[in-house]
Amino acid sequence: MNRLTNKRILLGVTGGIAAYKSADLTRRLQDEGADVRVVMTHSAQEFITPLTMQALSGHPVHLDLLDTETESVMGHIELARWADIILVAPATADFIARYASGHGDDLLTAVCLAAECTMAVAPAMNQAMWAKAATQANVDALRNMGVHTFDPDEGLQACGETGAGRLMDVPDIVTRVSDLFDQGTLAGRHVVITAGPTREAIDPVRFISNHSSGKQGYALAEAALEAGARVTLVSGPTHIPAPERATLVPVESAQDMLDAVMQCAPGADIFIGVAAVADYRPESSADQKLKKQASEGLALSLVQNPDILKTVAGLTENRPFSVGFAAETENLVDYATKKLETKNLDMIIANNVADTSIGFNSDDNETIIITRDGQEPLSKSSKEVVSRKIIATIAERMMQGSEQVA
Ligand code: PMT
Repeated sequence: MNRLTNKRILLGVTGGIAAYKSADLTRRLQDEGADVRVVMTHSAQEFITPLTMQALSGHPVHLDLLDTETESVMGHIELARWADIILVAPATADFIARYASGHGDDLLTAVCLAAECTMAVAPAMNQAMWAKAATQANVDALRNMGVHTFDPDEGLQACGETGAGRLMDVPDIVTRVSDLFDQGTLAGRHVVITAGPTREAIDPVRFISNHSSGKQGYALAEAALEAGARVTLVSGPTHIPAPERATLVPVESAQDMLDAVMQCAPGADIFIGVAAVADYRPESSADQKLKKQASEGLALSLVQNPDILKTVAGLTENRPFSVGFAAETENLVDYATKKLETKNLDMIIANNVADTSIGFNSDDNETIIITRDGQEPLSKSSKEVVSRKIIATIAERMMQGSEQVA
């Protein structure tokens, strides 16, 4: 299970011999699912090149406080706000002293000063420097400021001396960083969600669709992210922004949606079909815009679309926990329960769409969670609140399932 999924880590590298270990640290943090961006001090660049850190992190490395190029990409305040945690590793005695006394005259100290997120430093220096009263006072000052310190290991140092001062082992730093985060109920899980409407082309300018806005599906994606999951959001056309940390796969038609879902849902932990998928599409789509005819009308011949949810829930291998939505205007519980059975689902959310203040294109929803062993009504509230409850119930069910297996 990846312990740092969706987490944004700003890695500060300062100028000591252990700076070369920040390359490995970047990789190990990424292995745990973190998005890592790097700030290097001038002296750090004497030990390891920004190019190495850029290649490993996959992002430009931030070097200067007054560099107009990098400041325009992401300024120092934005960098501080972007991070869930700022980790300075290795942290030299000089950096610790300047950070503890509130300096902000280079990029790294300025970012640390502006930060409101979790902060951690992993000191590395000569054993005598680490033991000095001044250094220990500065480290204590950082601790009093709420900064987590990952104290150095003992052993043979690059300078040939032995004692406490070596950078904590990289796997131990990764564990300590992971421990600083609350592990959500879906930490390390992969959730695939469909959302929005599909569009079924009649000709190049016309289509059949419905009123789905994507609000319910996007709110579920956000709630799953909050619970620590990695989220893939396969979405038909909408006018709302997708949650920043979700991987968005935009699609148009039901067939496009099925193709995209089959790329990511097998092997995922959870699949939630929120999309209002068109049940039918025109038998053929005209290559050119249809011209108005002199005759009275136009008959469209429709054929059935594939059922995406049923396809996923019917997988015999790598089947995710499968959740559907049932949009009904009558016989809500009966029809939804039938869909639970015919589509072989683990859970269905019955959604009364006859009431326009809930359901399609509204900000609120009122639903009933139905499983094979019961029902739980969710009273009317915002789609965000409804989504958190649905995600919590899914997590609880999955936990029960894994306990039964164990
Ligand atoms: O997007 P919003 O404006 O926020 O509105 C939210 C919503 C009303 C669209 C949502 O809450 C909802 O109810 N979604 C399900 C819409 C729907 O198509 O329901 P259905 O009863 O027709 O389909 C049952 C289930 O099968 C759904 O999970 C649907 O995604 C899935 N399905 C349906 C047809 C098909 N060809 N493939 C499918 O996967």
